[in-house]
Amino acid sequence: MSDYVTIAEASRVPLGRGLTVRIGEREFALFNIDGDFYVLDGHCSHRGGPLGEGIIENGRVYCPMHGWGFDAKTGACFENPERPVKCYLTRVVDGSLQIKL
Ligand code: FES
Repeated sequence: MSDYVTIAEASRVPLGRGLTVRIGEREFALFNIDGDFYVLDGHCSHRGGPLGEGIIENGRVYCPMHGWGFDAKTGACFENPERPVKCYLTRVVDGSLQIKL
């Protein structure tokens, strides 16, 4: 049984920018970087800033609140390596962006 769930139509995630999607109580930050999709937890590990509104540069997502940078592919935090954000495996099926929970 697959544990992937659809969180958005891939076409909704703009190239080079983020999108915040809420599912139930959870928020996810979706990114389209050069046509590849990445999904991180929606809240920054510093003080909960909205990562889906962050700035993307060279594969990094910068939180709009205080500028902490995260690797979009892994969730690693560059300012504080002990504070990564959760990163989800993604796939696109029939135009739907899915994550593995
Ligand atoms: S809340 Fe993200 S850097 Fe402070």
